[in-house]
Amino acid sequence: MKTKELYNSISTELTSLYDEQEANSIAFLLLEAILGITKTDCIVNTTLHVSLMKDREIKVAIEKLLRHEPIQYVLGKADFYGREFVVDANVLIPRNETEELVQLIINENKASNLKIVDIGTGSGCIPISLYLALDNAEVEAVDISEAALAIAQQNASALDAHITFNHFDILSGTPLPNQYHIIVSNPPYVTQNEKTLMRPNVLNFEPHLALFVEDNDPLIFYNAIVQHSKHSLYNEGRLYFEINENLGVEVASIMENAGFKKTRIIQDLNGKDRIVTGVMM
Ligand SMILES: C[S@@+](CC[C@H](N)C(=O)[O-])C[C@H]1O[C@@H](n2cnc3c(N)ncnc32)[C@H](O)[C@@H]1O
Repeated sequence: MKTKELYNSISTELTSLYDEQEANSIAFLLLEAILGITKTDCIVNTTLHVSLMKDREIKVAIEKLLRHEPIQYVLGKADFYGREFVVDANVLIPRNETEELVQLIINENKASNLKIVDIGTGSGCIPISLYLALDNAEVEAVDISEAALAIAQQNASALDAHITFNHFDILSGTPLPNQYHIIVSNPPYVTQNEKTLMRPNVLNFEPHLALFVEDNDPLIFYNAIVQHSKHSLYNEGRLYFEINENLGVEVASIMENAGFKKTRIIQDLNGKDRIVTGVMM
């Protein structure tokens, strides 16, 4: 069989669910992950032999994709900030907006030996990326999900990032274990009302524990984390939040009421309010 023929047949099957551009890029990802075939192989159109086992693997993957399972869960991996992270249904698939949060923290914090904690770490994408970019940072990460912590630990070991992971419920009132220069969090922030706007690949596959908050208390995590931060940030320590695009002003005012200064609401590359940050004085 020729590579182009295989690529075209996978892509065509996927267009029953995905638009053409998405179907094409998923087809490339599948071929690369399962057969080690690159885009160039497809362009050059080399001949290949696909074993029965690999053929079966491709078919199973296509079936999952056609049931709306995200490609990252099908392949068990996702790219984040230039690295590959293991993911499964216990962790949120890391998003581009979160890469922007990581980039901002790296740009604004050049000192050595910073103590950092990430609250609600999921796959560990935030603390691992920070640890690997900053000089000699001491990084901790917490999550309520033991299953997520196991994946985060696996990613940290694979990427040689020395992070301390702790099982911790940020809503419990128990204080954070230490004092920090930076507290960062991308907590659950999607309201139940917003469920209707979500695609089935997110709604039916990603962990609801990572996504949703109640409509009557959408800022529950922000309120709790701001209270923790008052006690657990050093003087001039910084808090960085990823936020629901509709709640930037509300998050900034929670921070200001708690004594944070220099609060900023920052937009993502799509022009949506996505990050709120401030300094504890
Ligand atoms: C939106 S996800 C963020 C995951 C990861 N930091 C990222 O940016 O891809 C929120 C995370 O918060 C965790 N979480 C939910 N409730 C929590 C709680 N009460 N205490 C600590 N973590 C919690 C979830 O398990 C999930 O991993």
